[in-house]
Amino acid sequence: TRPHIAVLGSINMDLVAYVAKAPQRGETVTGREFRTLPGGKGANQAVAAARAGATVSMIGAVGTDAFGDRLRSALDHSGVDTDLLRTVEGPSGTAHIVVDDDGGNAIVVIPGANAALTAVDAGDEAAIASAGALLLQLEIPLEGVLAAARSARASGVRTILTPAPAQPLPPELLAATDLLIPNEHEAAALTGLADPADAARALLDQVPEVVVTLGAAGSLYAARGADPVRVPARRVTAVDTTGAGDTFVGALAVALGEGNSLPEALSWASAASALSVRRPGAAASMPYRKEIDAEAGVTA
Ligand code: RIB
Ligand code: NA
Repeated sequence: TRPHIAVLGSINMDLVAYVAKAPQRGETVTGREFRTLPGGKGANQAVAAARAGATVSMIGAVGTDAFGDRLRSALDHSGVDTDLLRTVEGPSGTAHIVVDDDGGNAIVVIPGANAALTAVDAGDEAAIASAGALLLQLEIPLEGVLAAARSARASGVRTILTPAPAQPLPPELLAATDLLIPNEHEAAALTGLADPADAARALLDQVPEVVVTLGAAGSLYAARGADPVRVPARRVTAVDTTGAGDTFVGALAVALGEGNSLPEALSWASAASALSVRRPGAAASMPYRKEIDAEAGVTA
């Protein structure tokens, strides 16, 4: 049976400039191409999970601008349930992204409608309670994240938190988190420890399971009472890594929801993110189940 996943988080229109090399301060460079593509960490994780095979309810907000309609229908087209989306007077969230020839990026996010997500209502709580897992990130107000995490905890729903963008976290949020998935920079910011294995070990004081994503170097998994385990990434030529981490988390949640062990789920999720970095855009580049299975070498 398909896992049911709830996502609370940001929905942005990504305004992407593709350029050989990102400009330095005070410098102007000529880019190659401009695209507007659906993104936002919350919406990205929702799309990744839906395409990977889950039933997904998205809790989020779009604005009353033209981007709002496009963002909502992009979620619909990927099979994400948008019944719980709010439409908030004013602009949608936007992310201003420069992608260079190595596929790396620099991003400025303007929250727009995402800033309205400061609480959860009865409808949101019902969706969270009926899900197998709740996915959270930090591109919406912390109060909203905390309210959802509390609600998930009260209903016994597994909470998976991506602590991005990096910021100090209230202990209560970590206490309500079952699986924390920082990248190496976020892990270092949360702990003051540069080595990802050390940071993961330190984070285990607050959460039972930690996965540190390491980009091209793969990921590292740590649980209480065992040594951290490294999972290698696939070698790929990156075109656009925007949303690769979100793809990883969405696919991971699906694999876990289907009852796979964490090491199995990590390997399948890394196949999904490898596929996404070969194509431009965040949500637009995310693979469907069949592609992930083929890349991961799964014979179903
Ligand atoms: O994680 C990638 C996302 O972060 C992009 O889609 C962009 O919207 C930024 O919020
Ligand atoms: Na991509």
